[in-house]
Amino acid sequence: MSKILVVHGSPRGERSHSRRLAETFLSAWQAAHPQSQPTRREVGRTVIPPVNEAFIAAAFHPEPQARSLTMQADLALSDALVAELQAHDRLVISAPMHNFSVPSGVKAWIDQIVRIGLTFNHSLDNGVSHYEPLVLGKKALIVTSRGDFGFGPGGQLEGMNHADALLRTVLGFIGITDVTVVAAEGEESAERSFALSCAEAEERLLALARTF
Ligand SMILES: Cc1cc2nc3c(=O)[nH]c(=O)nc-3n(C[C@H](O)[C@H](O)[C@H](O)COP(=O)(O)O)c2cc1C
Repeated sequence: MSKILVVHGSPRGERSHSRRLAETFLSAWQAAHPQSQPTRREVGRTVIPPVNEAFIAAAFHPEPQARSLTMQADLALSDALVAELQAHDRLVISAPMHNFSVPSGVKAWIDQIVRIGLTFNHSLDNGVSHYEPLVLGKKALIVTSRGDFGFGPGGQLEGMNHADALLRTVLGFIGITDVTVVAAEGEESAERSFALSCAEAEERLLALARTF
């Protein structure tokens, strides 16, 4: 049975378009998977701690088994977020574009789940780094909303879209290479154009819910 994890990244609650679209998708997905209980992880409206020196010392400890109790505590949230990710085979990330990238809560979540020895391994072969992804057998969907138009594939602002690029790169790095992006664009443009873009995004999401 598929298990779905939804990571909500907008600092906005009911006014968030990315959150609303992701929840629309989730309702349709649940209708197709009535036995499956979704898990929601809030990262936009709660503080996910940024990486600090203690985290780095603990996460990159040369002997993970020898971590002190303090170090283990420093990694407790990260361990829980990694376990949560590994326990699901479907991942939805809802995230608005913020300053051409993802909101800081989504970045903080990324920094907690990209963990050496847990979500990827690293080795050196004749001085050349080799990375092995450890998060396998999963699919991801990114549901996003943007203020302007043209950040999608082939759009005039595509080169400034560091949100999709970041998420695809990070997810691919840990092993999630099957990634779909559905975007609504133009909240800060004409109201009607944005409404049309939202309707198109919703249509795509409802179709995707049957196969995701
Ligand atoms: C801090 C901040 C930064 C933003 N940066 C961008 C941006 O770089 N490009 C863009 O098109 N829209 C930008 N926007 C607009 C949001 O992407 C847009 O309002 C989106 O629909 C919000 O999604 P949400 O309703 O899910 O929060 C920004 C909004 C905020 C609050």
